[in-house]
Amino acid sequence: MSVPAQSTARAKDFRVAIIGGGMCGLVCAVGLARFGIEAEIFEQAPKFDEVGAGVGLGPNALRALDRLGVLDAVLARVDDAERQERRMLYVSGSDQHEEVYDYNKSSEFTAADDGIGIYRPAFLDAVMPLVDPKRTHFNKRCTSATKLASGAYCIQFSDGTSHEADLVIGADGVKSVLRNAVVGDKMVLQFTNTVAYRGLVPLETLKQDGLKTDLRRRVCCFVGIDKHIIAFPIRSGKIVNIVAFATDNSVPVGSVEVTGPWVESVPQKELLDKYEGWGPDAMSMLNHMKNPSKWSIHALTPLETFVHEKIALVGDAGHAMTPHLGSGVGQGFEDVFVLCELIGHPSTNLSNLEDVLKAYDAIRQPRANMVLHRSFRAGVIYEAFGKPGYAAADMGKHLAGMWEPIWRHDLDADVASAVASLQQRGSFPAAES
Ligand SMILES: Cc1cc2nc3c(=O)[nH]c(=O)nc-3n(C[C@H](O)[C@H](O)[C@H](O)COP(=O)(O)OP(=O)(O)OC[C@H]3O[C@@H](n4cnc5c(N)ncnc54)[C@H](O)[C@@H]3O)c2cc1C
Ligand SMILES: *[C@@H]1O[C@H](CO)[C@@H](O)[C@H](O)[C@H]1NC(C)=O
Ligand SMILES: *[C@@H]1O[C@H](CO)[C@@H](O)[C@H](O)[C@H]1NC(C)=O
Repeated sequence: MSVPAQSTARAKDFRVAIIGGGMCGLVCAVGLARFGIEAEIFEQAPKFDEVGAGVGLGPNALRALDRLGVLDAVLARVDDAERQERRMLYVSGSDQHEEVYDYNKSSEFTAADDGIGIYRPAFLDAVMPLVDPKRTHFNKRCTSATKLASGAYCIQFSDGTSHEADLVIGADGVKSVLRNAVVGDKMVLQFTNTVAYRGLVPLETLKQDGLKTDLRRRVCCFVGIDKHIIAFPIRSGKIVNIVAFATDNSVPVGSVEVTGPWVESVPQKELLDKYEGWGPDAMSMLNHMKNPSKWSIHALTPLETFVHEKIALVGDAGHAMTPHLGSGVGQGFEDVFVLCELIGHPSTNLSNLEDVLKAYDAIRQPRANMVLHRSFRAGVIYEAFGKPGYAAADMGKHLAGMWEPIWRHDLDADVASAVASLQQRGSFPAAES
């Protein structure tokens, strides 16, 4: 399947390189191709790859994918159980998992507020066929991008090769190299003192243990002190995607550096010990995570800008955040949508490209960082249930309204306002009145 370029597209007078072929980089290549812009993708790995875990996408993420022309392909890989309300049911992590707060009852919701929970490799399978294999380059680990006298960038790779482009899109994830070109040597990435243990367990196995909590079609959040567990169904509801979080609050955030690998296999005992005393459903889930992997969750202190000259960051490169609102990649898709619309705009060319990227930044930086802040705050609330923290009523008070600003957002209005600002500044021809 190929994506037709817009028939009105005129060839652009600049070359685009995308560094990183994760979810955001891939979708960016597809989005640009719709405008007839053929970007080269450079990925450090030998192939496109994703962790074998689920990822939640809210309605805003789905709308961005829709406007980027990839939603149909993604939904074709999603079953009924995976089309789900992302409105969490909060239950107590200990005792008998009593209901603490039902986000679905916090306000009026409609189908337009729904999202999906998808298996990450299935997302890749959906998007990969839309990407031009002639433009994808594997085993290319970018080490730097240096500006040439011509104004173009020379992108260097660890294998000693290089590539020249006029616009460099940094989609290289949490450990982004391109970010250095934007923020300099500032220490912006921190260990959050939170680790996440991930695993997939068949629902049937949990049922045999006498599971009480309904994990067939909802996202459940088991809350407690310094710990919480997120569980939601994927794969026709047969598999439960589980992420168990634990935070060390005895030390300030930013004071601990993870010197070992950020993702590693750990003995199951470590996980079981951490959650000792939790309720039966929680322990059953953890008991069946035989080979848990532990992720040290890193997040950025909010960047002041996602752009430097003709380098633009998208996704985790610009705003790696804690996963507590399931919104990280959704913000990345919003970045990509706004960036593609602006780069592909008929008035955009090499001479005004820097202004166009500034307009992208002015729209995207405040919003993505708003979501980053909220995600952190949500994690603090989830891990403050029970003595000496919050009672159930407090939880509701703190959580109400958390998602609506993320889910209900008009991306087309963002693009329109960026275009209007470019017109006002004279970077684009004045609007016809
Ligand atoms: C436990 C956990 C649960 C999460 N759950 C959710 C969720 O439910 N919903 C949600 O929206 N988000 C979630 N997230 C966040 C989400 O996974 C990220 O926001 C998303 O993967 C970011 O996509 P990306 O394309 O920006 O970066 P990545 O997926 O990290 O992709 C970056 C790509 O760039 C490549 N790369 C890196 N450096 C270089 C280099 N120097 N040169 C060339 N290539 C390079 C990498 O190999 C990779 O392919 C979760 C995260 C974690 C840790
Ligand atoms: C969420 O609320 C809607 C409307 O109030 C209702 O139709 C739906 O069944 C609820 N979902 C769950 C899982 O309770
Ligand atoms: C670039 O675009 C601007 C605004 O759309 C236009 O005024 C200018 O003439 C264009 N320059 C070139 C070299 O095409």
